Parts: sequence; C-alpha cells; structure tokens
Amino acid sequence: MQKKSHYLESQVKFKNKSSLNISKSLKKFYIESYGCQMNFSDSEVVSSIISKEGYVPTTTLIEADLILLNTCSIREKAETTVRKRLKDLNRLKTNNKNLKVGVLGCMAERLKNKFLEQEKIVDLVVGPDAYRDIPNLLKDIEIGKNAVNVILSKEETYGDISPVRIASNGVTAFVSITRGCDNMCTFCVVPFTRGRERSRDPISILDEIQELVENNFKEITLLGQNVDSYLWYGGGLKKDFKKISDLRKKTAINFAKLLKLIARTFPKLRVRFSTSNPQDMSLDVLKTMSEHSNICKHIHLPVQSGSDKILGLMNRKHSRQEYLNLIQKIREYMPDCSISHDMIAGFPGENEKDHQLTLDLMEQVKYEFGYMFKYSERPGTLAYRKLKDDVSEITKKRRLQEIVDLQQKHSLYRTRSYIGKTVKVLIEKESKKSKNQWCGRNEQNTVVVFDKKNFKIGDFVDVLISNCTSATLIGNAVK
Ligand code: 5AD
Ligand code: SF4
Repeated sequence: MQKKSHYLESQVKFKNKSSLNISKSLKKFYIESYGCQMNFSDSEVVSSIISKEGYVPTTTLIEADLILLNTCSIREKAETTVRKRLKDLNRLKTNNKNLKVGVLGCMAERLKNKFLEQEKIVDLVVGPDAYRDIPNLLKDIEIGKNAVNVILSKEETYGDISPVRIASNGVTAFVSITRGCDNMCTFCVVPFTRGRERSRDPISILDEIQELVENNFKEITLLGQNVDSYLWYGGGLKKDFKKISDLRKKTAINFAKLLKLIARTFPKLRVRFSTSNPQDMSLDVLKTMSEHSNICKHIHLPVQSGSDKILGLMNRKHSRQEYLNLIQKIREYMPDCSISHDMIAGFPGENEKDHQLTLDLMEQVKYEFGYMFKYSERPGTLAYRKLKDDVSEITKKRRLQEIVDLQQKHSLYRTRSYIGKTVKVLIEKESKKSKNQWCGRNEQNTVVVFDKKNFKIGDFVDVLISNCTSATLIGNAVK
C-alpha cells in the first residue's frame, strides 16, 4: 500500500492564488493519503476545499491544527495500518489540546461509529462523496461537536473543483473522470464505500487538463475505478442511461471518444489511464490508442484469476478465454503495448488446479508487471456473506509467492527485451539511488534511470537502454 503526504507550499499557492484566504486564520492542516491513486487525487480536491477555509498546508505533523487521513478499505491490512496510525496521531493531542483529527475516504463509511463513539479517536469523519461539506463540518468541530457525513451521492464528481496539486513533481498529474463502481466483484468493498458509478462532465475534464498544460505539466493519468465504462450523457448514474431519449444517446460521449478528444486537443501531452476492466474495454479504445502517438501504450488490465470457476465466484463478467482474446486484440493493434495486472491468491474455493490455471494464464500473457494480493475477507461484500474463506493462510501465502516469483521472471524477460533499444522518457525526478541520475518512465510505464547531463525535470529524452533489473531500465541519453 502506498502512503504519502504533503505539500510543496509553492505548488499549493500556484493553483490557489486567488482563493487562499490566509488572513481569515492561520490554522494549518496536514493530510496523509493511503491506498489507490484515486485517494491521492481526492486529497488534492480536499486540499482545495480546505485551503478556501483559511487553512494552510503543512508538512510538519506537530505544527498541524487539523490532521486528515485519507483512508483505504480494500484489504484488511490497509485498515490495520490506518488504525495504528490514528492511535499514534492521537498521542499528539496530549501536547496540543486544540488538535483535531479527521478520517476521510473509504474507511469513513465502514467505521464511522467505531471511530466517533466507541474509540473516540477522531473528531471528523467524511466519506468520499461528502468533501464539499467539510467547511460546515469544520464549524461543527470548532464548537466541540463530532462531525460526520458519509452520504454517498448519485451525482458528485467534484468536476468544478480545481485540485491543489499536493506533493506534485510539477510534471505528471492525475485527472479523475469517473467515481464509484457498478461491477460488484464479490470480493470488493469499493461499490459500498464509493457508491455507484458516475462520469464527469467532459468540459470540466478538458478545462482541468488545459490548466495543467498552461502550468507546464507534461503527462496526465485519467483515473477511474473502471475508466472504460466512462459515459457522459448529461450527468447521473451509468445505470440510468437506458432510460434516456435516443437523441441524448446519440450525443453521449464514451471513453474512446473522450480519449480521442483529449489526445487531439492536447497533442503534446502524454496521456495515460487507469484502471481498465476487461469486459468494458472496447476495440474503439484500442483503435484510438493505436492512432494517437501521445496516448501511452500501457494498459492496466486486472484479471484477478486464471480460472473460470473462480472468475464466476468473483462475479467477474469475463471468462479466461475472453480475457485472452482481448490480450490478443491489444497485441494486434499495438505490438509494443505493455500490459499489467492485479491478481488475487487464495479466493474462497480456489484449489491447486485453479491456482495452476492462474500461473498458466500469466505464462501466456507474460505481463510487464502486476499487483498481487492474498485474498482478504471484507465485511459487507457478497463473498463475505456467501462464501467461506476456506483457503488456509499458509496456502494463500505460498500461492501468492509463486505468483510473485513468476511475475518477477516475466518482468525481467520484458525489461531485457529493451536492451539495445532507444525509448522516450519523461523525466519526473532524481533517482533515489544516485544524485547524478534522473528517473522517469517510458511510454510502457517502465521506470528508466540515466545520467543527468544537462537535462531537467519535465524534459522528454531519448534513452538508449544498456542494462536492466526486473523493474528498471538503465541507459544513456542520446538526445
Ligand atoms: N482481497 C484481496 N485483494 C483485493 N482487491 C480488491 N479487494 C480485495 C480483497 N478483498 C485487489 C484486486 C483489485 C485491487 C485494487 O485490489 O486485485 O483489482
Ligand atoms: Fe472493485 Fe471490481 Fe469495481 Fe474494481 S471493478 S473497483 S475490483 S468492484
């Protein structure tokens, strides 16, 4: 699980010059994000809302008047980490009686009563669709009231809020295009914590990107739990699309159209997207990717299991063969496209044969990289209610290790294939290992490091690859 916080104050100011009302008060807030990219993106929306209330950001915990944790519920481990962090943060209240602590995001809905009433460790609980209410909730906590809003919305996309680019490198940014998920995979808590799927107005998406381009950003990642099911027909839930008039259906914008619109409007901008769902990814999207050189050739395409029996129990709406057919189509349209995955080991009912089918599917695809997890039972989900968590911990661990080992082998196979080739890299930051090297990614989303020379962050550089590990390409800039 990722964890990150905080701010470059200068960047906060550049996005928020007009709205930052420091004179109202000099209260400071500190925000820490856990989990998926969507949470990191949401923290930027929350920072924008809070900055308008006269709070200024701080990177120093002990300075903060308000500490916010943007939390993740996807696996039990994620929740345990946040709960431990909350206990630690509460100790700061001993020295600072005015300190307020808030929980945002996916754990808010699930655990609001526990946090506020039983454990009394937080003052503010705000669910993913209620961030606009934060100004009112802050007033409540100022007068000593507990403040909570976890209502899920059918409309909210925060489309009109200009995110404050916290912790930004000034080069790459997330732009959210959908919220929620309707897929109801039986293991997943997201449909319960983030609600039903809705798409954001394309005009507000283009406006946000325009602003990023004007501020010299070079790459965006369009975000959604399921970007391929993006559908704009004037607002509202995806499931209500069937009820609208034929005329509105004809003028609706799907993901392929949105992608094309963005790629053509901003030809110099690199465009990525995540996450794709196998059953929703259309050939139109693949065609659009292949026709636009500024759309990066990488698809994150979670499969979760290679066994049809397990895919059925997971309520995934694709079979193993349909998934493999899609992979074949991707390769036909874009032979150089990288593919990554999410995989779950030890789902209820998974036997050795199912596990071997997962390894076999990986062998067929040879993914560039992947995110791999042990199944973790989540209260409220269909799997929790209907299926027995019957794979022992030892077996889950062993199967996960086999999946990770195989992925490592395939990642190395893929990175080695770049040796002797030249790739285009967008420089994002200094390499963690050496002050003399830059770090960026190629189109396929593989990390590349090379000597700095006279290049700077934000430059696109052609790099000749001479060496690699399973996760990193190493080379020299040629221009
Ligand atoms: N247990 C393990 N992994 C899970 N994921 C989602 N829910 C669970 C769970 N209950 C994984 C899936 C998903 C990724 C975001 O997290 O692989 O694609
Ligand atoms: Fe969860 Fe499935 Fe939706 Fe992904 S597609 S967020 S795994 S329900």
